Amino acid sequence: MRFQDRVVIVTGGSKGIGEGCSRVFCAEGGQVAILARGLHAGQDLARKLNETGPGKAMFVQCDVGEHEQIRSAIDLVVEQFGRLDCIINNAGVHPPAMSLEETSIEEMEQLMRVNFLSTFAGAKYALPHLRKTKGTIINMSSMTAVLGQHHSTAYCSTKGAQVSFTKSLAIELGEAGVRVNAILPSNIDTPLMRDWAATLPDAENALKTVADLQVFKRMGTIEEMGKLALFLATEDSSFLTGQAIEAEGGASLDY
Ligand SMILES: NC(=O)c1ccc[n+]([C@@H]2O[C@H](COP(=O)([O-])OP(=O)(O)OC[C@H]3O[C@@H](n4cnc5c(N)ncnc54)[C@H](OP(=O)(O)O)[C@@H]3O)[C@@H](O)[C@H]2O)c1
Repeated sequence: MRFQDRVVIVTGGSKGIGEGCSRVFCAEGGQVAILARGLHAGQDLARKLNETGPGKAMFVQCDVGEHEQIRSAIDLVVEQFGRLDCIINNAGVHPPAMSLEETSIEEMEQLMRVNFLSTFAGAKYALPHLRKTKGTIINMSSMTAVLGQHHSTAYCSTKGAQVSFTKSLAIELGEAGVRVNAILPSNIDTPLMRDWAATLPDAENALKTVADLQVFKRMGTIEEMGKLALFLATEDSSFLTGQAIEAEGGASLDY
């Protein structure tokens, strides 16, 4: 097993890509701390993972928009599991499509707080523990960080900030042996994706259009993202740091 007796924190680990990470790390013997706001989904997934094993799971209720909650959640996880080997800063939201004029400064501030400051705070508060284990930081950015997305300027800016943060922090932590990488998914079949489609007049057609953007004519799965995160969290990727891994199923090819 590739993560046996090691500990990972997955923010937004109860649904979507985060759930994929929680499942994959637990299947490899990891002790998984799921951080999210919703009690029901988080507790339910932790219970299921503890039933199936071979790893263990705990749920900690945490709103990543509140950095003090991130700090106390990390402390609690280390107290319970005794160490920390990886944090996956994954929790994030995608607001409905809107132009710059329609986006208020307050909305931008709030989005930055949830999508980016959470990444900054997660890394900052996890770092003392990761230094001890020579652990890893994984930031869930997006292909929109490099490609842009129509009427999603606010969202893309938060995802771009995660990429710059990843590269700069990787330099800072290189000598300490703490690796920092970002994953840039294109289109992954998650509740976030389906909620977005539901805001459009023809949801099914929108999902098909999105699936067709990849050369495989399908969206990525949450397990595929989980497996990539596992690779970045283990010695298999020991020479990778500061990388923005484009997990995009060929979506950016053949423009
Ligand atoms: N799906 C895609 O195609 C795609 C593509 C590129 C990048 N991404 C990125 O991947 C990440 C995950 O996306 P997803 O599609 O898996 O989203 P999702 O299906 O909506 O799941 C989001 C997870 O984050 C949690 N979360 C949301 N806001 C939170 C907050 N303020 N505090 C704590 N937890 C919070 C949710 O639980 P609660 O609501 O219970 O808190 C849930 O567990 C995001 O950062 C997103 O930008 C996704």
